[in-house]
Amino acid sequence: MAEIKFYNREPVPVEMHKVKIVQKLSLLPARERLNKLREAGFNTFMLHNGDIFMDMLTDSGVNAMSDNMQSAMLRADDAYAGSETFYRMNEKLTGIFGMKYLLPTHQGRACEHIIAQHFVKPGSCVIMNYHFTTSKAHVTRLGGRVEELVKDEGLVVKSNLPFKGNIDLDKVKACIEKEGAENIAYMRLEAGTNLIGGQPISYENMKEATDIAKQHGIVTVLDASLLQDNLYFIKTREAGMQDKSIREITRMIADLFDIVYFSARKFGFGRGGGIMVRDEEMFHAMEDYITMFEGFLTYGGMSVKEMEALIIGFEETMDMDIISQGPQFINHCVTELDKLGVPMVTPGGGLGAHIDARQVVDHIPAEQYPAGSLVAALYLCGGIRGMERGTLSEERNPDGTEHIASVEMVRLAFPRRVFTLSQTEYVIDRVKWLYDHRHLIGGLKFVHEPKTLRFFTGKLEAVSDWPEKLVEAYIADFGEDQ
Ligand code: F0G
Repeated sequence: MAEIKFYNREPVPVEMHKVKIVQKLSLLPARERLNKLREAGFNTFMLHNGDIFMDMLTDSGVNAMSDNMQSAMLRADDAYAGSETFYRMNEKLTGIFGMKYLLPTHQGRACEHIIAQHFVKPGSCVIMNYHFTTSKAHVTRLGGRVEELVKDEGLVVKSNLPFKGNIDLDKVKACIEKEGAENIAYMRLEAGTNLIGGQPISYENMKEATDIAKQHGIVTVLDASLLQDNLYFIKTREAGMQDKSIREITRMIADLFDIVYFSARKFGFGRGGGIMVRDEEMFHAMEDYITMFEGFLTYGGMSVKEMEALIIGFEETMDMDIISQGPQFINHCVTELDKLGVPMVTPGGGLGAHIDARQVVDHIPAEQYPAGSLVAALYLCGGIRGMERGTLSEERNPDGTEHIASVEMVRLAFPRRVFTLSQTEYVIDRVKWLYDHRHLIGGLKFVHEPKTLRFFTGKLEAVSDWPEKLVEAYIADFGEDQ
């Protein structure tokens, strides 16, 4: 169902589930949050979960399971080799994607590792609509290069375009011409394009792009980690798709690709990952990597209990009632904040609500990580943990200079079926407060900077005493205890 209608008031998103198990949250006083943030090196990845009120870091591995998913865990068939659970999972995924072979992995980046390991050679190029941090890191580690060919309009922050994740077909043709098809390891299209705000790609665009790749004999790969949101958007936004079921749309998409891989920490509401392969030879060529890096071929590093839960989770992903919740809550959050004047990435996409940090804290230089500073400030102002998605998440250029990200955002992820609308209203309120006090926010600098994926474990400090001043302003408005 796209949306529940209301009789006498503005509609709000309504959950198509009820709560059965809860986890208590605590809200630390603001000054304590400042201490915790300092200990975490102003990096929200390094905070302890118990010190967080609203954990909106990610939707990865933190989505609520259904009663059916949990009860399915009891069926798990423990076996090092030949677990019946694996065959059930393979059958379910083959039913959904129409591809015969499943390579199980422990999570999404393991799929990326294996695909890159198989196809990428030094100097080869991988075409993407947009990169994801781990998908790019695996390509560059092997001496390859990523060409991001998303349409320019996809990077425009405020927009009403329905499919900002679309790849630019002219750029694709020019890239193939320039690089030579034989030097292109594969074309990877990412459903629900993560780093530009969970923005979807249309079926039509996927079809046209993969047609071009096929004409040149280039392998086509779909990153389906965020497919569930993308399915919702195709069904609700793309012309001619309203009468098709989610299952039909999924199959139409999968039919375009040689390989479909996913992080099951997102796709399927569980934890794990998998690579679906159409061609037997390609499957066999990659299976050695599973036994070498992941585990035996019938579990690939996943717990069989999680696999059983996923089998139900994949089926739930085919249910429009279930996959509507995320995009509808995100749309509510984005629309309300937009009305309040906060610069948001519009239209609302999947995954989470995205704040355009470059506009909010335009007084912070790019080298002092505007989005990193804003996300740190948001934890101080309400115990809300978001994620930096900007320059801090990039790797430095080979000469050591900063690679300034094309988009500089704070992401407030909405794990599916986890937060209520009142919690969402709290977040809207605190973001607005912070926006109104944005002049108090200052920059950050590294004190420990890892070479690869530095945003995960790097430690930073504030360039001035701005965090103390911000906390005092917050206390003046909300009191000492929150
Ligand atoms: N592809 C996409 C589109 C993703 O969003 C992610 C993970 C991965 C691949 C890697 O999967 O984490 O299971 O290894 N995204 C998480 C996030 C980390 O928070 O957006 P993984």
